Amino acid sequence: MAILAIKKYPSPELTTRSADVAVIDDEVRELVRDMIETMYAAPGVGLAANQVGVTRRIAVIDLSVGEDPDALHILINPEIVESTGEQCDDEGCLSFPGVTELVTRPSRVVTRALDLEGKIYTLDGEELMARAICHEVDHLNGVLFVDRLTGLKKDRVRKEVRRNLKSGAWAEVYP
Ligand code: NI
Repeated sequence: MAILAIKKYPSPELTTRSADVAVIDDEVRELVRDMIETMYAAPGVGLAANQVGVTRRIAVIDLSVGEDPDALHILINPEIVESTGEQCDDEGCLSFPGVTELVTRPSRVVTRALDLEGKIYTLDGEELMARAICHEVDHLNGVLFVDRLTGLKKDRVRKEVRRNLKSGAWAEVYP
């Protein structure tokens, strides 16, 4: 197992649409293991493969950050099949260290994905889980949480990102 380097904005992988996983082989299994370790080390509650430079449709989510083994979800080729309601809360991203902003998301989403054995399963998420699923599926489509912002919030984040890039502050975070 290895902790992988997390790509920070504006790495090109982050705005690239990831390709479907055709076969779940040893390479994919190793990548997933490394992604889980990287997410826990950061620490974070979710990580998409393109955040570690691999543009394939794989994401991991664990709202417990390793505390509860049942809270770990591996999503391969995930697809949101149902989306209802609305919630607005703070959201951040490991590719934007320290930056958070209020983002509107559905309050509940149902996702269909493959697990590590290649079996189709359904994940029904509400509140923070719905937010995490939307955030990670967005990543796989090359969409970032800042792309979901409008108006003053977008301007505020843009300024904060520019400040961080200029000062080199992000280079010091999980190198
Ligand atoms: Ni993110």
